[in-house]
Amino acid sequence: SIIRHYKFDLVKKNTTKLCASKPIITVNGKFPGPTLYAREGDTVIVRVVNHVRDNVTIHWHGVRQLRTGWSDGPAYITQCPIKTGQSYIYNFTLTGQRGTLLWHAHINWQRATVHGAIVILPKRGVVYPYTKPDKEAIIILGEWWKSDVETVVNQAMQSGTPPNVSDAHTINGLPGPATNCSSKGYTLHVESGKKYLLRIINAALNEELFFKIAGHKFTIVEVDASYTKPFKTDTIFIGPGQTTNAILKADQQIGKYIIAISPFMDTIVATDNQISTGILRYKGTPKFPPTTLTTIPPRNATPITTNFLDSLKSLNSKEYPTKVPLTIDHSLLFAIGVGVNPCSTCVNGTRVVADINNVSFVMPTTALLQAHYYNISGVFTYDFPGKPPNSYNYTGTPPVNMQTINGTKVYKLAYNDTVQIVLQGTSIIAPESHPTHLHGFNFYAVGKGLGNYDPKNDPKSFNLVDPVERNTISVPTAGWTAIRFRADNPGVWFLHCHLEVHTTWGLKMAFLVENGKGPNESILPPPSDLPKC
Ligand code: C2O
Repeated sequence: SIIRHYKFDLVKKNTTKLCASKPIITVNGKFPGPTLYAREGDTVIVRVVNHVRDNVTIHWHGVRQLRTGWSDGPAYITQCPIKTGQSYIYNFTLTGQRGTLLWHAHINWQRATVHGAIVILPKRGVVYPYTKPDKEAIIILGEWWKSDVETVVNQAMQSGTPPNVSDAHTINGLPGPATNCSSKGYTLHVESGKKYLLRIINAALNEELFFKIAGHKFTIVEVDASYTKPFKTDTIFIGPGQTTNAILKADQQIGKYIIAISPFMDTIVATDNQISTGILRYKGTPKFPPTTLTTIPPRNATPITTNFLDSLKSLNSKEYPTKVPLTIDHSLLFAIGVGVNPCSTCVNGTRVVADINNVSFVMPTTALLQAHYYNISGVFTYDFPGKPPNSYNYTGTPPVNMQTINGTKVYKLAYNDTVQIVLQGTSIIAPESHPTHLHGFNFYAVGKGLGNYDPKNDPKSFNLVDPVERNTISVPTAGWTAIRFRADNPGVWFLHCHLEVHTTWGLKMAFLVENGKGPNESILPPPSDLPKC
């Protein structure tokens, strides 16, 4: 293993899309940003320099950051932001992971334009556990607003209403052919008979997406940098923060085939039916070929998502064994959802809020990890509730008094504790799917179901043999998902819905994992250039 050095210069760049220009924050002037390549076991050192007016941080989404929580990146959770003119060196080792991940800004809504791919190749001499693809392609899905995104969210927070949806979805930064404005869209060039490994990343802020290519099927081989049992599908379902490696065989007639992305079940209030397209083009395609079209899943195509998620199983081979915790120290029930609180200054007299167990998380002004490490009191409390304050019919009609409380609360775990969280979706305003992300760990998704979780019967059908291993999981609409992990990484770790609007509304919390007693069971000391608040 080697050390790989990168330099990320955060700079503004005037960018034109959908026939409108605006300055955006970029890394090294690129949108999407540069790809970070490494091999399993390598150490990555990224010097991030802030040349813009806004505060910045970068998060290496899905990188375990074993004992290096200082390099995780979420603002006010593991670090204070990098201020204008300052720099910070992220330094971490890629342990026990290979595949595709993403990096993105982790402050306000900056990740709209500040994101890119992380490609972790197997160790030198180690092959993929599936037939070697002839070529690889990175496909980053995103969203584009014609107006400034921070203005969009600030206005929404003032009015208490949901923010505007994006003006288009993008594939590798390109909106598909749009009405009233010609744009070319993304083209994937293929050669007949060859196999392509598509590294698909959903970097969108607020949309779970379907991904399809006309006339072609995918073999899914990995998600969130964990190998899966290969399975075939014609539709990929991917939430923000998730990554999917899929093999595509160019086995159709020479020609042009539509690549389509479309949203799954947005909030009912802010409907988004934006479909964006690109083109898969075979080498040797004649000049004016017909284009093969594809069907688009309806926006509420829950059966497709269920089918896709049910097919995901960890590889569980001799080389890549599944290690599900079988005994549980902390059995938690997190009721997660979106609701409204009264608000006299808001447009409708109410404010949309989101919460876990009725706590709407308030960002501290000092980073939690610093407060924990240096014993600074008054920054957070340890009383994050392990279950809802009172139980009710989570997926039915909500009780009347559901006003949330504000707090910066963490849930404390001892080193190596095992945790099960049942993420129970609620339907206070509307049933909605929540792609929930846990920092610092991979977890196993051992079970899921519709309606209310039944602690007596549902565990009987848990998959403890080959559940998929991920860092971000969809909590099904009006249903639940159960995840398990081992708290073998000391530090402070964020858990939140990866729909940015829900995070902003408060659908977030943090775990505090104490140091263990052993020699390699403590968080390393903070780097000397750690930004100050
Ligand atoms: Cu990809 Cu906390 O985020």
